[in-house]
Amino acid sequence: EKGTYDHYMLKEINDQPAAMRKIIQEYQDEDENLKIDPAIIKQLRDADRLYVIAAGTSYHAGLIGKEYFEKWAGVPTEVHVASEFVYNTPMLSEKPLFIFISQSGETADSRAVLVEIKKLGHQSLTVTNVPGSTLSREADQTLILHAGPEIAVASTKAYTAQIAVLSILAQVAARELGKDTGINLMTELAKVTTAITAVIDDAPAIEQIVNEYLETTRNAFFIGRTMDYYVGLEGALKLKEISYIQAEGFAGGELKHGTIALIEENTPVFALATQERINLNIRGNAQEVEARGAKVCMISMEGLEQDGDTYVIPHVHEMLTPLVSVVVYQFIAYYAALHRGNDVDKPRNLAKSVTVE
Ligand code: F6R
Repeated sequence: EKGTYDHYMLKEINDQPAAMRKIIQEYQDEDENLKIDPAIIKQLRDADRLYVIAAGTSYHAGLIGKEYFEKWAGVPTEVHVASEFVYNTPMLSEKPLFIFISQSGETADSRAVLVEIKKLGHQSLTVTNVPGSTLSREADQTLILHAGPEIAVASTKAYTAQIAVLSILAQVAARELGKDTGINLMTELAKVTTAITAVIDDAPAIEQIVNEYLETTRNAFFIGRTMDYYVGLEGALKLKEISYIQAEGFAGGELKHGTIALIEENTPVFALATQERINLNIRGNAQEVEARGAKVCMISMEGLEQDGDTYVIPHVHEMLTPLVSVVVYQFIAYYAALHRGNDVDKPRNLAKSVTVE
């Protein structure tokens, strides 16, 4: 039930701290060690490469997951859009493990891949919010997101839950492979929970950003580098699906290779800077578009902020910033849709789970 909230989406954005706490609790044993089903640990140990298969927002979560598997556990990982993979299957490694990420567990495009790879005898793991869903029943193993039911068509808490659960899975993979990642993940996820709460409490300030940047525009761009680029893809998807503003996410460095031609006077550009390594580069990209008339909304993180930034999220571990920065984009999409009088929870032409290929 959405209770006192005006919309399910708003409730579900607000559910995220509780979902994080639930995940921390579910994936930890009495001694506060990360806890994952031994059968899944065996799958990870036996795999020489991970193939993450998903669609839409879940695909965007998979892109972040790849960073965890490769940077922490050193396991090569590919992320594929399900509907492409079925008809354009890449070369597979000798011992692939297929990880299906799906909030609903019912996405037909992902299921089509599962059916194919089962014929080939490969191992599968479904990461889903819905126990007993088709992808959960048909895969060899399942990890549950514990985000609670997600009703709004635009996915919010499932995305952050997917990233959190993938981070736990990757940490366990690292542990099993004897890699020291130098991070106490559960402690850092607890800090993330606090940071998400702070952003939620600050929703009125984010509504002001919408007033300033998105009231009349027909398009908007989201730029970032590395993980911030992936969050930009998700921010753009969220904005387009419920506000119907044409929105695109781009890698900051790609602008000059074509996209920058789209920038006009007052084109809104959301630029995200939560990674120290690329902080100056993305700011350079922001200046490039600003010089061509764009209205840049610079979103950074405590510790990396500069004078004039539009919004600064609380400081969290660099690998976990998507869990917090995306909440800003969720609110931006929510208020943009609300201000345009759209049906926030049930955008036109879309269904909550896509059960046709
Ligand atoms: C966007 C959104 C969709 C889903 C996609 C996959 O807000 O919700 O892009 O992420 O249809 O759905 P699941 O995760 O259920 O497989």
